[in-house]
Amino acid sequence: MNIAIDGPAGAGKSTVAQLTAKHLGYTYIDTGAMYRALTLAALHEGVSLSDEEELASLLDRISIGLQQQASGQRVFLNNRDVTEEIRHPDVSRQVSLVAKHPKVREKMMVLQRKLAGQESVVMDGRDIGTFVLPDAEVKVFLTASIEERAMRRYKEMLEKGHDANLADLQLEIQLRDKTDSDREVAPLRCAEDATILDSTGMTIEQVVSRIIELCKNKT
Ligand code: C5P
Repeated sequence: MNIAIDGPAGAGKSTVAQLTAKHLGYTYIDTGAMYRALTLAALHEGVSLSDEEELASLLDRISIGLQQQASGQRVFLNNRDVTEEIRHPDVSRQVSLVAKHPKVREKMMVLQRKLAGQESVVMDGRDIGTFVLPDAEVKVFLTASIEERAMRRYKEMLEKGHDANLADLQLEIQLRDKTDSDREVAPLRCAEDATILDSTGMTIEQVVSRIIELCKNKT
């Protein structure tokens, strides 16, 4: 059984997907982390983020690893742990520019389907229910108000000891959602057969229980 969780930035997808996967004993796959790792590699190697061919070829040359550890998921780029680096504002601001290229998405989709073919997964992203795993047994579109999403990100940044500005974060999230929704290939959309979960005012536990309930109804 595969579970697809899509939604806009900052909706809490990764936290919820990770906990759901842990509860069910499934593998968690964070597809946003894969696009972020490619963006980081491009920034390091000086590859232009508008050069589709170069980005696609870079993706062929790098290795992206996702590893589940007790502390949570770790992300590796060419065997180097980049879990924190891929969350840097420079990456967050530019990742959508990388993710909009059709050739990059095509290659990512192959990698993601391969991972899902090996075991039961909870996969989160923007196009999982619509394109990557259209046959996923459970599809959730997780959202929350823009104010709440920005506030969650703000608190997360402060907890990690980073400087943050709430208004700037809200703008960044809105801009990223717009770029992700307006792109021509596999835009951010709710799949027709997805359950929409608005997590505004809900706790993480409540959202996870709701998803587990949806899974139980499928078995
Ligand atoms: O999920 P996260 O916010 O880390 O995703 C970062 C970016 O990666 C998104 O804003 C989007 O541009 C891209 N992405 C995507 N398709 C996915 C997952 C992420 O285009 N399935």
